[in-house]
Amino acid sequence: MFETLVRSCLHQVSPYHPGKPIGEVQRELGIKKVVKLASNENPLGASPRAVRLIRRLAASSFIYPEGASPLLRQALAKHLGVDVSRVIIGNGSDELIRLLCEAFLDPGDEAVVSRFGFIRFAQHARLMGAKVVEVPMEHWRHDLSAMAGAVTAKTKILFVASPNNPTGTYNTAQEVGMLLNTVPSRVLVVLDEAYYHYARLRPDYPESLKEMAQAHSNLVVMRTFSKAYGLAGVRVGYAVAATELIQWLDRIRMPFNVSLLGQLAAEEALQDAAFVRRSVALVEKEKEKLYPILQKWGLKVTPSAANFLFVESRILGKEVFQRLLYEGVIVRPLDEYGLHHHLRISVGTPQQNRILLRALSKVLGTRF
Ligand SMILES: Cc1ncc(COP(=O)(O)O)c(C=O)c1O
Repeated sequence: MFETLVRSCLHQVSPYHPGKPIGEVQRELGIKKVVKLASNENPLGASPRAVRLIRRLAASSFIYPEGASPLLRQALAKHLGVDVSRVIIGNGSDELIRLLCEAFLDPGDEAVVSRFGFIRFAQHARLMGAKVVEVPMEHWRHDLSAMAGAVTAKTKILFVASPNNPTGTYNTAQEVGMLLNTVPSRVLVVLDEAYYHYARLRPDYPESLKEMAQAHSNLVVMRTFSKAYGLAGVRVGYAVAATELIQWLDRIRMPFNVSLLGQLAAEEALQDAAFVRRSVALVEKEKEKLYPILQKWGLKVTPSAANFLFVESRILGKEVFQRLLYEGVIVRPLDEYGLHHHLRISVGTPQQNRILLRALSKVLGTRF
C-alpha cells in the first residue's frame, strides 16, 4: 500500500548501507572480539580532550542546545580564518549534503556526481526528485574536466568528494582550480573534504578556503569532526560558503540539529591539535605497512589520501567480507556502488591491522 503512497522519487532512492555494527556481529556469530574497519572511524578513539569535556558536561544533557551552534561556529571561523557568517554546523556533514539538496534541487534539476563518488550525494539528490548525472572516473579519480563538461542549463549542484569515499583518491589544486574556473557561477560546486586532515599532507592538495576567498562564491566546502577528531558518534560536520547561501541553509535546518554535547565536544576537539597529528601520523604509517603486504597477496590497492584503503580482489568482495566476519573482522563490501570485486578497509591501530592481515591471509590462503 505504501509503495503507491510514498513520493514517487523515493523509488529511485536506494537505502544507505552503513558499516556492519560490532554488536550485530557479536550477536549473530557469537564472536566476542570483533574489529571494525568498516566506517572509517578513528582507530585511536575520540579526542581525549573532547571525551573529558563530555564526561564533565553529561549532566547538562537536559538543556536544549543553542540552535545555531554559535560558539562552535565562532571557534571554527577563527580556526579557519573566515567570517563566522560563512559557517554552518550540521548533524554530521551528511546533514549538510541533505540541506544543500533540499535548498537547491527542484524535481527535474540536475546534480553532477562522479560514477564512484560518495554515494550520499546521489541519494540525497534523488530524494528531491533531481536527476543525477554520473560522470565516469579516470583511474578511480574524479575526472573534473568531464564533470565540468557535464554541466547543463539544468545543473544546480556539482558534488566532489576529495579525498573520495570509497576510492581514497583526491584531486589536485590545479584540477580543482580549473573546475572552479570552468563551471558557471550559477552552479554550486560542493567540495566534500571529510578526509581533509589526511590529505592535506600532499603538497598538491588544494587550499579550498583560499579558492573561496578568490571570489568563487559558488564554492561550498564541507568537513567533519567524524574522522581525524574521532567524533563520529556525536555527529558534527560543517560547511563554509557564501554568507547568503548559509542563510538559506539556516532557514531549513532543524532548530536543534546538533546536540549540546556534540557542539561542545567539537569545540574542544578543535583545540586538540596533538590528537589530530597523532591520528594522521598513525594512518600514514600503517598505510605504508599495509600496501606492500596486500599487493604481495594479489590484491590491487589504490593509493589512498584518506584513512581507508580501496582494495580490489579476485574473489567477490561480499565473499571476502563474509569470511572475514567469521574471523571477527568487519570490512566494507562495495556492492552498493556496483563494485563487486572491491572492498573498503579502514586503517586501524597496528594491533587491529595485524588481526586484519592474519584473518585476510586465512581467507585468501596466503602466508602471513
Ligand atoms: C566523503 C564523505 N563525506 C561525508 C561523510 C559523512 O560524514 P559525517 O556525516 O559523519 O560528517 C562521509 C562519511 O564517511 C564521507 O566519507
